[in-house]
Amino acid sequence: MDPQREIQMHGHPNRAGWFTAGKVECDPIPPPREHPARIILLGPPGVGKGTQAVRLCARLRACHLSTGDVLRHAQCQHDRSPAMQAAIECMTRGELVAEELIIELVRERAGCLRCQGGFLLDGFPRTLRQAQALDQILADLGIQLDAAVCFELPLDQIVDRLSGRRVCPKCRLTYHVTAQPPSAAGICDGCGAALEQRADDRPESIAVRMKLYEEETQPLLQHYERAGLLVRVMASGSPDEIHLRAIETLQRQIDVPAPSAAPA
Ligand code: AP5
Repeated sequence: MDPQREIQMHGHPNRAGWFTAGKVECDPIPPPREHPARIILLGPPGVGKGTQAVRLCARLRACHLSTGDVLRHAQCQHDRSPAMQAAIECMTRGELVAEELIIELVRERAGCLRCQGGFLLDGFPRTLRQAQALDQILADLGIQLDAAVCFELPLDQIVDRLSGRRVCPKCRLTYHVTAQPPSAAGICDGCGAALEQRADDRPESIAVRMKLYEEETQPLLQHYERAGLLVRVMASGSPDEIHLRAIETLQRQIDVPAPSAAPA
């Protein structure tokens, strides 16, 4: 099996704390690190943030905190609030979820930002207002960000990645029909479930998401550049090549553990 698949399935905490806003503890609880990595991931939809987050978290021994994953997790729950139902409908159309809801969703998970293992925050912030809210949440916690990593790729390659993406509805592994295919077509290697296309990966939703990225999220790059935190990484090539490029770039900014120290 692809080693990254193993990491994705077995080497991570289950992020229960993130999904349940701290009502259930993560298993395992990440061990403390002397210098936990505290990083946000930026970049257009489909550039490969989730794919890279798995590799970076394994190397940095940090936790992958994705706001998109929280919304998709809520999609599978029966007892969702009207606000969460409205958010899921926004996501399906490719639109951004209301600022108040998404900021509250992160604020009630602030315990995960304090995690002794560190974090990679993926999908938040996405607007200047969200970035300012995050600055305030982190200041209240007395925590400083180490870096804002932005993955970059030409639009035609992004659209190809999004339209070929398939996901497992059960264990959330991500595949691509040609670049990262499962062993048996349409079947998850991890749990055997039938793979699905995300509702927001349809062409009409992709167009909405790309436009919103340009209008709302790109201005954030200046915010983090001014703070001296922005790290740009070209996201072309294989996932492993991009990972090495990201590590090389990050090593200039943060303490990165040696590969042998990462969990197998
Ligand atoms: P979210 O889940 O954050 O989606 P996104 O940012 O649009 O990012 P994606 O998950 O689509 O892509 P990715 O960059 O992680 O790429 P991946 O690794 O899967 O958010 C979803 C929605 O939730 C938003 O649209 C919004 O509605 C809502 N939301 C979330 N946060 C919000 C916020 N803060 N404010 C408001 N609303 C919010 O890779 C893509 C594909 O490419 C895969 O098939 C993969 O296998 C393949 N691939 C990856 N790397 C490579 C490679 N090197 N070569 C070839 N193929 C590759």
